[in-house]
Amino acid sequence: MSTLRDNIVSGRTFAIISHPDAGKTTLTEKLLLFGGAIREAGAVKARRQQAHARSDWMAIEQQRGISVTSTVLQFHYNGYRVNLLDTPGHQDFSEDTYRTLLAADSVVMVIDAAKGVEPQTVKLFQVASSRHIPVFTFINKLDREGRDPWDLLQEIEQVLGIQTYPMNWPVGMGLDFRGIYDIHHRRFEHFDRANQDYRIVDYAAMHDQIPDDQRHALEEALELIMDAGEPFSEQKVTQGLLSPVFFGSAIANFGVKSFLDTFLQLAPPPTPRPSTIGPIDPSREGFSGFVFKIQANMNPQHRDRIAFVRIVSGRFERGMAVNHVRSGRVIRLSQPQQFLAQDRFIVEEAFAGDVIGLHDPGLFHIGDTLTEGEQFEFTGFPRFSPEHFAEIELKYALKHKQYQRGLSELTEEGLIQVFHPTDLGPQIYLGVVGPLQFEVLEYRMKMEYGVDITIRPLNYSIARWIEGTLPELGRFDRARVVLDADEQPVLLVEDEYTLARLQEKHTNMRLHESSLLV
Ligand code: G4P
Repeated sequence: MSTLRDNIVSGRTFAIISHPDAGKTTLTEKLLLFGGAIREAGAVKARRQQAHARSDWMAIEQQRGISVTSTVLQFHYNGYRVNLLDTPGHQDFSEDTYRTLLAADSVVMVIDAAKGVEPQTVKLFQVASSRHIPVFTFINKLDREGRDPWDLLQEIEQVLGIQTYPMNWPVGMGLDFRGIYDIHHRRFEHFDRANQDYRIVDYAAMHDQIPDDQRHALEEALELIMDAGEPFSEQKVTQGLLSPVFFGSAIANFGVKSFLDTFLQLAPPPTPRPSTIGPIDPSREGFSGFVFKIQANMNPQHRDRIAFVRIVSGRFERGMAVNHVRSGRVIRLSQPQQFLAQDRFIVEEAFAGDVIGLHDPGLFHIGDTLTEGEQFEFTGFPRFSPEHFAEIELKYALKHKQYQRGLSELTEEGLIQVFHPTDLGPQIYLGVVGPLQFEVLEYRMKMEYGVDITIRPLNYSIARWIEGTLPELGRFDRARVVLDADEQPVLLVEDEYTLARLQEKHTNMRLHESSLLV
């Protein structure tokens, strides 16, 4: 029988981040295939389409060919219990994309070899990096003509500010792509283009596989890596200071297996999480976990909400009674769910690093702590700075109650952030991270709460939480002070220039990009 310790050591919980179209879905699919979690490639996409078909409001996503919701998938591979948190990579996403990263212990960043570091990658990387978690890079689409590998490494270092270390090196690219040399294991993976297959050979045998000029180029590159680059340091990887870089092609399934093998070796097991009584270690006895995401309408037959809980410590068992610390209530978890690529099922037991889905009767908020009786709470759930703002109005006053309920529930889910005037007057301002959220809000308010609303976009693009003296804005209309849901003051500003001017003028005011909900 495996012990609690075995289950901790073998756990790996990570998220894949990328700019749209870099190949995240394709790589996910290949990883799941290795894990035996799906039988054929295409299942992840097919499953997404199915999920879309099942849920009405997701029609918006479908129209635009994007997916708004993140999923959590578990698979077993080589003795590891792997939890893959899937974050949507499209332009319009909500805070729960960011929050999903709070549940991960490491991140895989997929980069298109032809495009390099793209805007969405930068945003998501910054969230991972602010938590100092290890970031592994997969440079994808080597089967196509891409940019020079050195160029790509340099761009990652310069734009993202993280050191890189190539774990393998491509031999050729596009039509000349012959394979990759695995620096870590000192072997060559030969790409058999005709059969879309690969063979692993040792360094000596590699000579027969590739032309002289390509071999020389590889030898030169290896020399440079050994001489000029930073030495590989596992410690730096763990601290999030150095990103191991793997080249490959997800669609050709090339370099994916060696990536997965090395990644799982280097990626950390479940890590401690901060709380009101100090860091909670995964080996601590007694179950504990936090809610990092709430998702509605997983099943449209009955309007359900699922709260996703990341287990931080101890062992979870079906039917156990846990303490919902914020409300002080004891709840019995009788129908907890776990998610495989093709289905969700009732989970009997789970451990640190695992994610379980709980039926939410309207009790849970993002950041809520569950324990086996203890009173501490996990800390450090930021509210991220929205970038789009609007005024909202109810069309028919009679529906006020449903309107309030809808706003409150959708705020708890993290779809929107609600702000109030400083005098707590009736006007409501909304903030979202991606503008698509406004459309989703309008649609869901109508479909789920029967409420028609009018949304009027505002010109602000920046929100900053204020510490210290509030600025006197008078009739100045390019900025406004509002209160967030916890009545913390927030400055809304039109642009960076205005923000800089206000900061120069109000030296006693300190501004923060996110609020820390403690
Ligand atoms: P995403 O989740 O990051 O948005 O990317 P996704 O995997 O959907 O891949 C985006 C496009 O890139 C897809 O093509 C996919 O087939 C292609 N792709 C992924 N990995 C590779 C690779 O290693 N090499 C090459 N050449 N292409 C790759 P599409 O035409 O947009 O979609 P589809 O019709 O192939 O599904």
